[in-house]
Amino acid sequence: MNTDKFWFLNLPDPSKSILEDLLIQSHTIEELESDRLWVDTLHRGELDIAAHNYGKYGTTISDDLVYRINNLYSNFFGVEVKSVLGKIKNVVGRSSITPPHCDRMRHVAINYVIDTGGPDVYTCIYNESRTNPDMTSAENIYHKDVTLDFKIKIPANKWHCYNVQQYHSVENVTDTRLIFSLFLANNPTWQQFQKTYKHLQILDKSG
Ligand SMILES: [Fe+2]
Repeated sequence: MNTDKFWFLNLPDPSKSILEDLLIQSHTIEELESDRLWVDTLHRGELDIAAHNYGKYGTTISDDLVYRINNLYSNFFGVEVKSVLGKIKNVVGRSSITPPHCDRMRHVAINYVIDTGGPDVYTCIYNESRTNPDMTSAENIYHKDVTLDFKIKIPANKWHCYNVQQYHSVENVTDTRLIFSLFLANNPTWQQFQKTYKHLQILDKSG
């Protein structure tokens, strides 16, 4: 693991009631096949593409839950915290991938994996970063046009963060991966985040 590029965070786990409500909400998340097929075409049919829904189509968390989550986490960051669910699902019957992309709207992912989506799911971080500064949409790239920096099997139930304006992918999803994310109202860049929230980093090598 590269500790300049990926941190585990010293934050409390979501409470049992928050987790239960997130799970209930996760069942409303849709998978839009047209999105998946668009990505499949970009990669020339060379990959088994997972259904991927992050921040769209039913992933918005209810106002009540947003309020409870903000109460739990905003003090750690000193800003308002919003939250979203993400789902990556194998719908092709084979180990599948969310291929390299840079996220829309956020510089840093602050994530908590609720379900890993399989025993050997890896998050891969590449050397390349976003080229189009307009962050209202994600940026995608043909998978052979990026070079791997490092990969990590992120365990369930551990807060972590990394720069999602570096290209990243999630591979070897055999089931359904469910991720809970915090969004900071000030949307710091990775460099700003590292400076401001250094005290939240878990330095223990075991993570
Ligand atoms: Fe992403």
